[in-house]
Amino acid sequence: MKTRVGILTAGGDCPGLNATIRGVAKALYQRMGDDVEIIGIINGYSGLIKGESRMMNPHDFSGILTVGGTILGTKRTPFKMMKVVEEDGVDKVAAMKKHYADLKLDCLLCLGGNGTHKTADLLCKEGLNIIGLPKTIDNDIYGTDVTFGFHTAVEIATDAIDRIHTTAGSHSRCMVVELMGNKAGWLALYAGIAGGADIILLPEFPYSIENVCIAIEKRAKQNKSFSILAVAEGAMDVEEARMKSKERTARRAEQGYTTPTNRIARQIEEMTGFETRVCVPGHMQRGGSPCPYDRVLATQFGAYAAKLVANKEYGVTVAMKGTVVTHNKLSDVAGKAHLVPEGHGMLEIARLMGISLG
Ligand code: F6P
Repeated sequence: MKTRVGILTAGGDCPGLNATIRGVAKALYQRMGDDVEIIGIINGYSGLIKGESRMMNPHDFSGILTVGGTILGTKRTPFKMMKVVEEDGVDKVAAMKKHYADLKLDCLLCLGGNGTHKTADLLCKEGLNIIGLPKTIDNDIYGTDVTFGFHTAVEIATDAIDRIHTTAGSHSRCMVVELMGNKAGWLALYAGIAGGADIILLPEFPYSIENVCIAIEKRAKQNKSFSILAVAEGAMDVEEARMKSKERTARRAEQGYTTPTNRIARQIEEMTGFETRVCVPGHMQRGGSPCPYDRVLATQFGAYAAKLVANKEYGVTVAMKGTVVTHNKLSDVAGKAHLVPEGHGMLEIARLMGISLG
C-alpha cells in the first residue's frame, strides 16, 4: 500500500513555500521511493473544502527552490469561519474530512501561519493526521525561533530602508517606512536595526508621538538633517493601546487611516516642522525569491516533515529551537503567538544604537 501524503499552503504567501514543498517531496521520495504519492491541495483549506486537488509527480518539484509564491496556490479561509455555515450551506469541517477520506490520505501537511495552525489543530482534533510547517514573514508562530519567509522579508525591508536613506539625506526629510507586522514587530525590529533606522515603532510597545518628535529634534540638534522611522503596520500610540481593537479601527477610519503611518507623518510635520514622507513597501515584502537562509531553513523543515511522515508522527508542527530542528504539538502552538517580549536582547541592542522605540 502506498502512503498518500496531502500538502497544502494556506493564508498569506511568503518566500520559501515552494522550497519547503520541494524539501518535503524530495526527502519523501528518497525515503520511500515509489511507495509514496503526493497530492497537492489547491488554494489551501478552500481547496480541501471544495475537493480541489491534483496528483503531483517528482517533476512538479523540480526547479522550484528559488521560486517565490506557492505552486499550490493559497487563500485566506479564516479560522473563526471554519465552524460557521454560510450562505452556500457548506459545513466546512465535514467537507474537509470528507475530501481527506475521498483522497485516501494517510496524512496532510499544512504550510501556514497562525490561522493555518489553528485550523490544523482543529482537523487534528477531528481525527485527521496533520503535520504543520511554520511559514510567515511576521515570525510570530509560537514555539519556533524562526519561520521561513521572515529573513527574506527582512532583506527586502532593509533594502527599502537603505534606499530611503539616500533620498532622506538629499532632501533633509523625515521618512516613515511602514513595514508589515500587525501583531508582531519582528520584521520592523530586525529591518530597522539592519537598515540603521533612527526610530522603530512596534505593535508590542505603544509609542508616544511626543517621544518620537523628541528623538527627531535631538538628531537635528546633532546636525543630522534627516530621520528614518521603521514602523510596523500594527504599531499604536499609548491612547490607542487602551482601546479595544474594534474601537481603534473605528477611530482610525474616522480619521481616514487604516495604519498609523500617515498620521505619524502628519504629526511629525506639525510638531517639528520637518518635511515628512511615507513609504509603504507592502506586499513586495512577501514577493520574489527566498534568500539563501530561507532556502536552507525551508529545506531543513521539509526534510524533517518527511521524517515525521515516515515515522507516522502526527498532530505536530515543525520548529527551530536554537540550531536544532524539532517539533511541537499542534495543540501547544495553536492560538498562541510569538511576539517581541519586553526585555528581548534586540530591544537592548536598538537602545544601545541610540534608536528610539517611541
Ligand atoms: O501574515 C502575513 C502578512 O503579510 C501580515 O504581515 C500582513 O498584515 C498581512 O499578511 C497582509 O495580508 P493580505 O495579504 O491578506 O493583505
